[in-house]
Amino acid sequence: GAIYSAGAYGRRPKVPVEPSALYAAAHRRMSPQAWSYVAGSAGMQRTDEANQQAFQRYPIVPRMLRDVSERSLAVQLFGYTLPAPLLFAPIGVLEMAHPDAELAVARAASALGLPMVLSTQGSVPMERTVAELGANPMWYQLYWSNNNELAESLVRRAETAGAQALVVTLDTHLLGWRTRDLDLGYLPFARAEGIAQYLTDPVFTDLVRRRAASGVAGEAAVNQRPTLAAVRTLMSITRHYPGRFLDNLRSPLPRAAVETFLDVFPCPALTWDDLDFLRGITSLPIVLKGIQSVDDAREAIDRGVDGIQVSNHGGRQVDGAIASLDALAEISAAVGGRVPLLFDSGIRSGADIVKALALGASAVMIGRPWLYGLALDGAAGAEAVMERLIAELDLTMALSGVASVGELSRDNLRLSVG
Ligand code: FNR
Repeated sequence: GAIYSAGAYGRRPKVPVEPSALYAAAHRRMSPQAWSYVAGSAGMQRTDEANQQAFQRYPIVPRMLRDVSERSLAVQLFGYTLPAPLLFAPIGVLEMAHPDAELAVARAASALGLPMVLSTQGSVPMERTVAELGANPMWYQLYWSNNNELAESLVRRAETAGAQALVVTLDTHLLGWRTRDLDLGYLPFARAEGIAQYLTDPVFTDLVRRRAASGVAGEAAVNQRPTLAAVRTLMSITRHYPGRFLDNLRSPLPRAAVETFLDVFPCPALTWDDLDFLRGITSLPIVLKGIQSVDDAREAIDRGVDGIQVSNHGGRQVDGAIASLDALAEISAAVGGRVPLLFDSGIRSGADIVKALALGASAVMIGRPWLYGLALDGAAGAEAVMERLIAELDLTMALSGVASVGELSRDNLRLSVG
């Protein structure tokens, strides 16, 4: 209502409502490097496109003459009530979109009462973000490093900070083939604004100290800029990255810190059995993010996870991977109802949210849209984008004859297409 009445008095919004205008405005505002990292996906961007196109294959069939005067968007998740089935997806290196980074997102999330999922790759130490969030719900996203002591330390900090759930991202054990970033020679997550959680972690800083003390270059190395050799170590994660990329890479971090990060970052050796370790160190609900196959979903449930997040990381990891919404349709048909399903990748409108919920998601995470709002107008911009998604979700449900989220089912969609 408020969104329409603002328009009725002739006020034009600072952050565009129409999605392509929003992206265009964010593109104009951001540096070429930041835009490439944020808007870009893997390879030829085909999975990113497929994510968005998939929504066209599940049209809504609106129903008439149903009383929709009283509507409810609230949902229950892991024993908590969310005012609407949306969360702020974990996004790393936010400082490149806006200097207030997580602190601005925390203000936006608090204004709406929606959970914010804090990224391991954050620009702001989690304790500072949580102070900004106050009583607002927070989940923690874990990039599971190959150092279990460090992983445990991060999880403990998140528990102490009051996380309601732990989202373990599985699809980024190596960085995807980000063609746009390669051409710009840009790898933001190795910079200070991408590793604030580590730089403030006692286990990590101890590793850095030990490396500096015993390292080839000795204690002095701690205060030096990283050498090409240190950066080359990072690139050995993905050996195929070309030399030109290395030459362009800049980092203001001390060499020992970068080297330590490079040591702990990749974790391609993880297997299902390693989940026992996580289960053993935390009683928080564990959500596995990045599940795309029915068999993996079954395995996850058999191993006792509390939630599954169907996601392909916004198409940023496997170019050519199945559209996330198609994966959701298959997974929910196979295992729906056994654990809550979360969903992300490709949502750009309230109608998209209706479709994901109708296909079995309990709630959805939103990535790039609020990030563009953040880039354009800080906390107010991120809030505006999410508030409009909620408004459009509410309106689309009402116009489709659906009064509450719990009523949504496959019956609201035509599934015979394609
Ligand atoms: C991400 N994503 C992500 N996921 C995660 O688990 N940890 C992270 O640190 C990040 N960082 C990140 C940075 C940027 C710039 C983007 C665009 C994405 C993935 C994110 O949580 C989510 O899965 C996707 O963004 C969802 O797709 P859409 O909504 O962007 O299409």
